[in-house]
Amino acid sequence: MSIYQATASAPVNIACIKYWGKRDTKLILPTNSSLSVTLDQDHLRSTTTSRADPSFTKDRLWLNGKEEEINEGGRLATCIREMKRLRREVEDKEPNAPKLSTFPVHISSRNNFPTAAGLASSASGFAALVKSLATLYQLPAHPSQLSLIARQGSGSACRSLFGGYVAWEMGSKPDGSDSLAVEVAPQSHWPDLHALICVVSDDKKGTSSTSGMQQTVETSALLQHRIKHVVPERMEAIKKAILAKDFDSFARITMKDSNQFHAVCLDTEPPIFYMNDVSRSIIALIVEYNRVSVANGGGYKAAYTYDAGPNAVIYAPKENLKEIISLIVKYFPQAENFKDPFQLFGTQGVGA
Ligand code: ADP
Ligand code: DP6
Ligand code: CO
Repeated sequence: MSIYQATASAPVNIACIKYWGKRDTKLILPTNSSLSVTLDQDHLRSTTTSRADPSFTKDRLWLNGKEEEINEGGRLATCIREMKRLRREVEDKEPNAPKLSTFPVHISSRNNFPTAAGLASSASGFAALVKSLATLYQLPAHPSQLSLIARQGSGSACRSLFGGYVAWEMGSKPDGSDSLAVEVAPQSHWPDLHALICVVSDDKKGTSSTSGMQQTVETSALLQHRIKHVVPERMEAIKKAILAKDFDSFARITMKDSNQFHAVCLDTEPPIFYMNDVSRSIIALIVEYNRVSVANGGGYKAAYTYDAGPNAVIYAPKENLKEIISLIVKYFPQAENFKDPFQLFGTQGVGA
């Protein structure tokens, strides 16, 4: 008897232009396009194994060893259903292909970093889920096609199907068929850019991204300004900066967009706070570090960005990393009291 099982893993991505707001909550269609960098290290990944077997009685999923409910019509059920639909297309074309689309699946996934702590676990998680099913079902699918399905698990997940610099184009069709991820540049285009993750807290966040952004859509006038008058130009400008490897522009846009995302959270009723005092001190440190460099005739040396949580992601050219790490350790000696104070990852192979 054959065993039908496949394992795949996917990395997290950290947005420079933030996705925050849905125009369709069921299909997960965003109110603005977004752009991210996919981290290429092994430290922040989800690894997912899927198995199809006719003797299983229903689809089931375990996350970090604990079974999660697959609710009918929910995100997990939608992704599994859509992947089975693609499998059925293969079976219709190849009558000898085993009818895996009719078998229930058991899925087990693990994150090697904190789940739901603002480190984009939903992005790597749903990307790994879709990839493992695509492998199991031997689908001839392009990453952009898979991104349409991962998007329906968690919006940010659509960007984790590519490495490097990735845009999620918001699209305009009501069925979402043009709301997908595209590669802006491969990671090899700008290998000198690194990301450093400072884990300020690995606690589960108080307000999930899903409910936080919905509250923002319902109550924030600033969000309306952002999606109409800010993000479209910013998307074009950051793509240009990436293609030209222009770190000054990349850094300024990235920091401005992180700031506006958190401003929009503050403009929400009731207000949402994702950053804490340590997050804000790290901002002050990076601002001062850049100010001194620019005052001395140099350029920007680092850019901070924060997702829906207090943890800092710092993008910087490789040559500045040592200096940045020593600055952070100098100003945050209390970090040594934590179990795992700083985790340092490169998009390109630089570790702690
Ligand atoms: P984060 O900042 O970590 O992305 P979110 O609130 O956006 O936090 O999403 C967290 C949720 O994503 C989890 O509660 C879980 O439902 C889902 N998730 C996280 N990791 C995985 C995974 N490996 N496989 C499937 N779903 C996952
Ligand atoms: C701040 O993709 O986690 O990280 O689509 O509801 O699952 P859902 O939300 P999610 O939101 C991510 C928000 C963000 C910005 C970003 O990744 O673009
Ligand atoms: Co998320």
